[in-house]
Amino acid sequence: MQKFTTVAALKEAVHKAKAEGKTIGLVPTMGALHEGHLSLIRKAKEQNDIVIVSVFVNPIQFNNKEDLAKYPRTVDADCEKLALVNADYVLVPSVEEMYPEPVKDVYHFGPLEEVMEGPKRPGHFSGVAVVVRRLFDIAEPDRAYFGEKDYQQLAIIRNLIEQIHYNIEIVPCPIVRADDGLALSSRNMRLSPAARAIAPTIYDTLQQAAEMAECEEVDDVKEWVLSSLASFNEVNPDQCPDGLCFEPEYFEIVNARTLQPIESWDEAGDDGAVGCIAVWLDGVRLIDIVKF
Ligand code: PAF
Repeated sequence: MQKFTTVAALKEAVHKAKAEGKTIGLVPTMGALHEGHLSLIRKAKEQNDIVIVSVFVNPIQFNNKEDLAKYPRTVDADCEKLALVNADYVLVPSVEEMYPEPVKDVYHFGPLEEVMEGPKRPGHFSGVAVVVRRLFDIAEPDRAYFGEKDYQQLAIIRNLIEQIHYNIEIVPCPIVRADDGLALSSRNMRLSPAARAIAPTIYDTLQQAAEMAECEEVDDVKEWVLSSLASFNEVNPDQCPDGLCFEPEYFEIVNARTLQPIESWDEAGDDGAVGCIAVWLDGVRLIDIVKF
């Protein structure tokens, strides 16, 4: 595995690979790599000659300074993991290297960004689009890999590809979960032991919601998910020391393609429906999805 800290050096390697007719898979990450990321890299290895992984905590997609400061940074451990899964090139740039000039570009995604994460994190998706486009320009990939946990991000990236007319296949990859069901996330390492112990409740609740969806209305499922998480600490005080509790930010049931909230299951039609949740636990914001 070759590690690059400059864009120019990676571009040179990319041009050489392209000249040799090699296909390129790109896996953009913000580091603190876990099995979820590694599953994207394994998939990319199956489908491409060269796999490029970027490890860059992108400041312009954080609308909360504290969240940016607290984001885990584990570059050495990341590079060890990347070598084990045979990533070919890893780009670990500084902020100045990625953004030598102040960023002026702003992307808009219409109704796709007016729901869920969009209103809660103003400017977030534009910041994601800026960095992803920059990575596309550097790596010139044939395919790029994104996890389905960030379901709205995936839809935004697909829309970005349409806006900028790049010929890149976006490959969605399923969520990887811990044995107890918690969706793997770089943020999980910030949970206290007590919070980590109850965090799988999010997955359990979504699974129960999927069962309820067979006989209950959309609104009733939504209300049940939000209220059962919000009341978890009252029902289970023994598992919630020191005021530990779930604070759901949103749970929306949306059309799986347009991401617009639905009021009846029929409204999702052939696209299907997906439930997307964001929950605060122990000062950590966790997200997850369930497909109906
Ligand atoms: O999903 C992430 O980790 C980030 O949003 C991404 C796509 C690497 C862009 O910074």
